[in-house]
Amino acid sequence: MERHVSTVEIVTELTRMRDISQNWRAHNAQIGFVPTMGYLHEGHLSLLRQANHENDHCVVSIFVNPTQFSPQEDLDVYPRDLEGDHAKIKETGAEVIFYPTDKVMYPPGYKTYVTVTELSSKLCGITRPTHFRGVTTIVCKLFNIVGPHRAYFGQKDAQQAFIIKKMVTDLDMDVVIRILPIIREEDGLAMSSRNAYLSPTERRAATVLHRALQNGLELFQQGSREPLLLQKALQEFISQEPLARIDYVSIVDPDTFLEPGENCQTLLAAVAVFFGQTRLIDNMTYSCDE
Ligand code: PAF
Repeated sequence: MERHVSTVEIVTELTRMRDISQNWRAHNAQIGFVPTMGYLHEGHLSLLRQANHENDHCVVSIFVNPTQFSPQEDLDVYPRDLEGDHAKIKETGAEVIFYPTDKVMYPPGYKTYVTVTELSSKLCGITRPTHFRGVTTIVCKLFNIVGPHRAYFGQKDAQQAFIIKKMVTDLDMDVVIRILPIIREEDGLAMSSRNAYLSPTERRAATVLHRALQNGLELFQQGSREPLLLQKALQEFISQEPLARIDYVSIVDPDTFLEPGENCQTLLAAVAVFFGQTRLIDNMTYSCDE
């Protein structure tokens, strides 16, 4: 279903977005949806291209969601570039940018939140205790407005992807969640809108994340399967970089996000590390089958 559209409608009103989606559904068309916070990079564009490929219509949302930032985080300075995003989106075949205001999504008196318990308070949830509640709330609302058949997320935010899948299962939502691979810069750094915050020296230092994960993969492939030893190896590797301040290094079972059992065939190595004020996350799957 390749499409290249010359115009992309920017929709700010909830009712207009719903009308478009209901009209498509009335014609039995399949809708793909990519929720984003804008400042799009190749990672987002890979999701958009896939959504366009697998569906009759494709919607992307751009909304810097205030409820997933805590007061001391970067909400006010989060990079924004609607014009640039619009030009990039045009090339992907998406037809609609849903671009609501804070007031449309959270009108005065707003009171309702969606929480996936337990999972939201580990790994990233330790340093960012209200983050996933904000993510699941906004994604649930966006699904209700856009009404997609398929929604696309990146593996870079592995815990977010896992939590959203759990929400969709637990709340019987009629949407297929597609998780697509991490897109990396040539030197291995996972693409992220927050990479824009890094100074040139921090940017160079941040490549340690991918190198550490690769090193862990090599150890795993050489037979080192003990999660605690892998975790220690990753920690030591990252600690050699003086600009890196580790938030966490964790080895989990990707099917549960819990500590891996003894015979776990696949492990997920997940890291969160500060470079200056910028907190970056990355992960890699270590599998016996590969
Ligand atoms: O991954 C993101 O960009 C955001 O967390 C999401 C899913 C768009 C919700 O605001």
